[in-house]
Amino acid sequence: MRVVTRWHSMITRYAGKFVAYLVVVVAVAFLVYRMVRPMNIFVVGEHFERPIPVTTPPQGLRSLSAALCGGCHSAIYQEWADSRHAKAWSDPYFQVDFAFDGSQQICLNCHTPLQNQQEHLVLGFRDRAKFEPILAPNEAFDGALRNEGVTCAVCHVKDGVIIGPYGDTAAAHSTRRDSAMTDGIGACQRCHVVSGNRWDTFYRIPPCGTVAEITEGTAGRIHCTTCHMPGVERPVWNGGQPRSGRRHLWRGGQDPEAVRRALVVRVSVTADGRSRMTASIRLANAGAAHYLPTGTPDRHLTVDVRVTDRDGTVLKARTHTLRRTIMWRPFIVDLWDTRLASGAERTYTFTYRRDSDPPPAELDVEVRYHLLDEARRRRIGYENEEPIAYTVYRWRLQATEEVRDVRLTER
Ligand code: HEC
Ligand code: HEC
Ligand code: HEC
Ligand code: HEC
Ligand code: HEC
Repeated sequence: MRVVTRWHSMITRYAGKFVAYLVVVVAVAFLVYRMVRPMNIFVVGEHFERPIPVTTPPQGLRSLSAALCGGCHSAIYQEWADSRHAKAWSDPYFQVDFAFDGSQQICLNCHTPLQNQQEHLVLGFRDRAKFEPILAPNEAFDGALRNEGVTCAVCHVKDGVIIGPYGDTAAAHSTRRDSAMTDGIGACQRCHVVSGNRWDTFYRIPPCGTVAEITEGTAGRIHCTTCHMPGVERPVWNGGQPRSGRRHLWRGGQDPEAVRRALVVRVSVTADGRSRMTASIRLANAGAAHYLPTGTPDRHLTVDVRVTDRDGTVLKARTHTLRRTIMWRPFIVDLWDTRLASGAERTYTFTYRRDSDPPPAELDVEVRYHLLDEARRRRIGYENEEPIAYTVYRWRLQATEEVRDVRLTER
């Protein structure tokens, strides 16, 4: 009996140690794997896992091409052609990023979503996460259609007809009124909302999840079109009568005017006693129903405040950054977020001496919008021809002057 008990206790002791070692080895191997594995930053939702199976033009039309629609709807066509949607494929930043990420098919389901905009058909998936589609060549692939990116038919063709907001038009093609066209968001949800719900992913807000940012804060209905497709009274097509419709502008972070409409910046400078000056820079998101900036986590704003002496030498400087900071590895965790929520305000204060030697000559406040980081640009090898950042506001003042609540308006 005693022998058995001794054996038993030895086994449990060594087995316990062995199990502990094993756990450590497995955990380390797992973390190493998490640090080097290919990373998928979003979850593939059912709403965009496959291309849109629209392949034949609605009755009355020869093709699905925006160029054809533009022959009759030229005002809308012009607006669309100047928008980011028309560049969702041709955009050089997208092209480089797409190649850098291994040209994954899933990207195309939002950037060139129609079936015949894609070189391959998606027959099914090899993996549960749906990042490995089973592909076959697409005989009907149309390269010119692909170039149109988020083209008219992506939003306007459903069940073989053109869907629109009216339903009572005498169009050259079959039409139907559809709630996705009039509820202010139905035409946007396929692409501007991605889910991040997965066991290893801890997003507060998923990437590019502009829709989720709004649901978070505001009660009631969300109308993306109110701001991004402003109302207009004009003929719907070249030969028609005016009626109320919407401009196809979709202006966002790429457009300084759109950012200025949302971002209100006010500056006050006060002298405290003899030696100290205090500048307060008050920022408010007064015009976007979502965060400012929103969209891809690349986007960020900087606020640079500096005082210089007479020769332009910087005496004191400070930079504030408004952005999301995400830890990507070993797990995806939303660490902190310094962007401005809708309606939110923030004040940065900056103090400097007025009696320094050399004395301060100029106070300089600059707000910049960045489409992406310089570091990321270099990492993916994007040789940009267009600037990746621009000045939203720039304002200079004699450093010892006091001002109250000046609203910035200019670049
Ligand atoms: C041959 C000229 C022509 C072409 C080509 C054409 N349309 Fe139209 N479309 C019209 C006319 C005419 C109307 C009706 C306008 C009216 O009644 O004021 C119309 C109406 C519409 C409407 C509103 C429908 C509703 O009832 O709400 C939409 C949306 C639309 N077209 C989209 C398109 C798209 C997308 C294309 C290309 C795939 C296209 N159209 C190509 C002439 C054309
Ligand atoms: C089929 C996918 C798709 C749909 C549907 C869609 N978008 Fe987009 N949207 C995109 C893509 C992709 C881009 C980025 C293109 C680029 O810059 O390369 C974009 C860009 C934008 C921008 C950014 C402009 C900027 O300055 O960066 C705005 C604003 C926008 N979309 C609003 C909307 C609204 C509002 C709707 C609904 C009416 C909508 N989108 C529907 C895919 C879509
Ligand atoms: C990202 C989605 C999207 C794309 C791309 C798009 N539209 Fe629209 N379009 C809409 C929505 C949404 C409405 C309805 C807005 C409303 O009335 O609330 C609309 C309305 C219209 C109307 C009705 C008249 C009006 O002024 O509202 C016409 C015609 C039309 N679109 C044609 C086109 C053509 C032509 C193209 C391509 C050059 C195009 N659309 C691209 C979403 C889109
Ligand atoms: C109250 C007006 C308002 C509403 C409503 C609104 N937006 Fe915006 N949106 C803006 C303004 C202003 C900007 C430019 C500043 C910024 O980037 O936040 C913008 C920027 C964007 C961008 C640009 C992101 C980028 O990468 O440059 C996208 C995408 C976008 N909005 C999508 C949406 C979608 C989708 C909805 C509906 C769910 C929506 N917005 C509702 C005002 C609005
Ligand atoms: C669920 C739809 C969706 C998928 C899938 C998707 N994108 Fe996008 N992408 C968008 C939307 C919407 C925008 C623009 C608005 C924003 O900033 O959120 C965008 C913007 C971008 C931009 C920024 C373009 C600019 O104007 O600066 C790049 C680059 C990009 N996507 C690359 C990719 C790559 C690479 C993939 C595949 C790994 C991918 N996207 C998959 C919807 C999508």
